[in-house]
Amino acid sequence: MRIAMIGTGYVGLVSGACFADFGHQVTCVDKDRNKIAALRRGEIPIFEPGLDALVASNVRAGRLAFSTELAGAVAEAEAVFIAVGTPSRRGDGHADLSYVHAAAREIATALAGFTVVITKSTVPVGTGDEVERLIRLTNPSADVAIASNPEFLREGAAIRDFKFPDRIVVGTSDDRARKVLGDIYRPLSLNQAPLMFTDRRTAELIKYAANAFLATKITFINEMADLSERVGADVQEVARGIGLDNRIGSKFLHAGPGFGGSCFPKDTRALVKIALDNDVQLRIIEAVLAVNDNRKRAMARKVSSAAGGNLRGKTVAVLGLTFKPDTDDMREAPSIALVTGLLDMGATVRAHDPAGMEQARRELPDIEYCDDPYLCARGADALVLVTEWVQFRALDLARLKRELAHPVVVDLRNIYRPKDMAALGFIYESIGRPSEPPK
Ligand SMILES: NC(=O)c1ccc[n+]([C@@H]2O[C@H](COP(=O)([O-])OP(=O)(O)OC[C@H]3O[C@@H](n4cnc5c(N)ncnc54)[C@H](O)[C@@H]3O)[C@@H](O)[C@H]2O)c1
Repeated sequence: MRIAMIGTGYVGLVSGACFADFGHQVTCVDKDRNKIAALRRGEIPIFEPGLDALVASNVRAGRLAFSTELAGAVAEAEAVFIAVGTPSRRGDGHADLSYVHAAAREIATALAGFTVVITKSTVPVGTGDEVERLIRLTNPSADVAIASNPEFLREGAAIRDFKFPDRIVVGTSDDRARKVLGDIYRPLSLNQAPLMFTDRRTAELIKYAANAFLATKITFINEMADLSERVGADVQEVARGIGLDNRIGSKFLHAGPGFGGSCFPKDTRALVKIALDNDVQLRIIEAVLAVNDNRKRAMARKVSSAAGGNLRGKTVAVLGLTFKPDTDDMREAPSIALVTGLLDMGATVRAHDPAGMEQARRELPDIEYCDDPYLCARGADALVLVTEWVQFRALDLARLKRELAHPVVVDLRNIYRPKDMAALGFIYESIGRPSEPPK
């Protein structure tokens, strides 16, 4: 199968490389000349574990190529995936579909022979209809079918998620498109991945409903964490106690500083807007958004109170900036609101992240960046752990304590044990768990 992947970002590059690895012939297209030039030199523009080796081996095998020329790649392809960004539209929170629409128009002019155009980007219900309208308007004689195939991969585990998905959702009522997508994903049937066919609008809604449900689960346990702190319970035990119930499940029940990232915030906002446009109010999702926004900023107050209630003139060390470990993605990371809050309270902030510092500099230009966690801690009045990179789990805590001017640690991911931290003499605060006085 010959595939053109339009948009070579986190989703397009991983999907393109995995499809090539299945044996398909893939051209990944992007408007960003620097990105394509880097990929052609063998450099991977994002941090995603395993992606460099996967890209290199498929380029070597002649199955994966990169181009800025959409027309050539589309003309040769039997399937064209749209994997461009759909960020929040500035001002109103709707999904910004300008990149999807522009890609659809450009694809339309280049189509040759029967082609399936598939939206992989996360798009509001009805976008497939609009893509179809734009394509037929631009090129009335094109032999084309339009499908939806939302992507569920997680950054940091993207290749595994793509190759061993819980399910693949394909939305189309066109038999030829079903056959093409069935052929593209056939190699995954060996991994027993259920291929679910449905109509296009349902497929589009499934993606938003999935993200909104997961965001709700996180927010639910975050509120239970707040309550646990007040009543002297341990939210991790609460999560375990409810998660062992199969109807609930244990995943996504980790209390923390609030969800961020490239998908949950923008997709929950967009879903609320999609519903309002259709005269439906999604009160639960509205509450999730409001609770989560307040929470990120509240984390700065938590740090301030652990450090004695006043941060003016104090230095806070921040470990972890990306919205989760194993990615360099800073989009809507909780660290942004937290650090901004700390700066607003008069603190000096120093930070370290294993992969995200380059991207972070654009979001947070007014802080100092350190090359290692101990340097970051040196002389600081408090340390706050924001992203649970595995490196931070294995820190030499006694050394960390020696580096700090005051042994205050606020652990927003509950990666250390209160008992151990107290024994080491830390003033230790975590999320939704009782603190122990330092020994
Ligand atoms: N990042 C994730 O974890 C994830 C997971 C599931 C779904 N999604 C969805 O997938 C979509 C893409 O997300 P992403 O994180 O990969 O975005 P991204 O910003 O990393 O990549 C998008 C790429 O598309 C390119 N582009 C834009 N318009 C183009 C055009 N007309 N022609 C060619 N290239 C064009 C951009 O230059 C950019 O490189 C979004 O809708 C997102 O919601 C993302």
